[in-house]
Amino acid sequence: MIHSYFEPYKTKMVELIHLSSAEERKNWIEEARYNLFNLRSEQVMIDLLTDSGTGAMSDSQWAAIMTGDESYAGSSSYEHLRDTIREITGFEYFLPTHQGRAAENVLFSVLVKKGNIVPGNSHFDTTKGHIEYRDAEAVDCSVEEAFDLNSRDPFKGNVDLGKMEKILKEHPASDIPLIIMTLTCNTTGGQPVSMENLRAVSRLAKQYGIKLFIDGARFAENAWFIKTREAGYKNKTIREIVREMFSYADGMTMSSKKDGLVNIGGFIGFRDETLFREATTFNIMFEGFITYGGMAGRDMNALAVGLRESTTEKYLEARTRQVTLLGEMITKLGIPVIQPYGGHAIFVEALGFLPHVPREEFPAQTLAIELYVEAGVRGVEIGALMADRDPVTRKNRFPDLETVRLAIPRRVYSDNHMKAVAEGLHRVWQRRDTIRHGLHIVHEAPILRHFTVELEKVKP
Ligand code: F0G
Repeated sequence: MIHSYFEPYKTKMVELIHLSSAEERKNWIEEARYNLFNLRSEQVMIDLLTDSGTGAMSDSQWAAIMTGDESYAGSSSYEHLRDTIREITGFEYFLPTHQGRAAENVLFSVLVKKGNIVPGNSHFDTTKGHIEYRDAEAVDCSVEEAFDLNSRDPFKGNVDLGKMEKILKEHPASDIPLIIMTLTCNTTGGQPVSMENLRAVSRLAKQYGIKLFIDGARFAENAWFIKTREAGYKNKTIREIVREMFSYADGMTMSSKKDGLVNIGGFIGFRDETLFREATTFNIMFEGFITYGGMAGRDMNALAVGLRESTTEKYLEARTRQVTLLGEMITKLGIPVIQPYGGHAIFVEALGFLPHVPREEFPAQTLAIELYVEAGVRGVEIGALMADRDPVTRKNRFPDLETVRLAIPRRVYSDNHMKAVAEGLHRVWQRRDTIRHGLHIVHEAPILRHFTVELEKVKP
């Protein structure tokens, strides 16, 4: 008997997609200065720009929206969310924020000072931005496998313990306010961190008297990979794995727009009351009073339900299965992608795809533009544009990986949409040898430039 897989949910409401032609898209992207962030949503047919805040909420989440308590102080929605976060993560204290980078801003306002060093696996760009903004340095201690396209290591999000210990030995603990482990590691391809690695980092952190924080934006997807890839976890529940992951940390920052299954929101979790109190002052200044911190009561309610839904096996199976499906379709066409496939996205390797485009002409951005014009699919460049200039030399930084990320929103697209993405990419692949020139910058911001950069096509 053939056993057909089906998603453990069905559709109750639909949003129409605006269809467009390649000719229209060619004009739109020129008007948008070859920056995909400048496009209007109706100019995009399948939007894989990000999995952040783009997911579909469940009917239970929408029902919870209706019972939100909008009291300025002492809201029951806050209490409900606090109890859920305590239960799922084990962190006793929490502060709501309006999104993940706001959590970083509040936490780093307490902890990170000029000249400090913040080691971890590859930091996400807003995390790095908030560290560098404070004239501190984010040091990437990722394992070498993370940058090796031939490696199929199941936990490419891990840190190299030798690299990390070297940093901890070379600098006094007073210069290292915290270690940040990003789960899963977005920058290197949505790759997970193993429980073993997390445990070892925690041991190192304790040994050197340094705090360990988890950037938990995709913590549930990380837990799924531990369950399915790491020895000893097959029979544990996702909730048990999640509790163990967070047990190794002193706190967490969270972008609830990912594994919180909501469209906006974030939080900081703390084990220590003193640090929580210090951060509270900044939260009140930047985000709002402790019991809402930039979130509406109804949004806190929806997040509490979302955290429960995202930490179930059935949900995570459907989620990772669809990402894998897209990865397999693209791989079968011979197109180079980062493997193993990430938890939230497929990362197409642009240097292998467009070998004729020089790195100075941004091959990944060039590929993302070609895919958009070809198929109306919007991905995002994770390469030299996003890597910004070196804060000291102001020279372009060329990261080891130059990729186009196709991030899949949660519970939004069908497998047919994934098929259309693979087909569009295939059409670009077939004419790849004709693509010999990329883009050059005409305007850029000093930091996080990829959001607002303006580009022009390099003329042959
Ligand atoms: N940490 C990680 C690992 C992230 O991926 C993001 C956001 C943030 C922190 C910041 O959270 O957006 O809520 O302020 N990533 C999005 C992305 C933007 O497209 O990957 P935020």
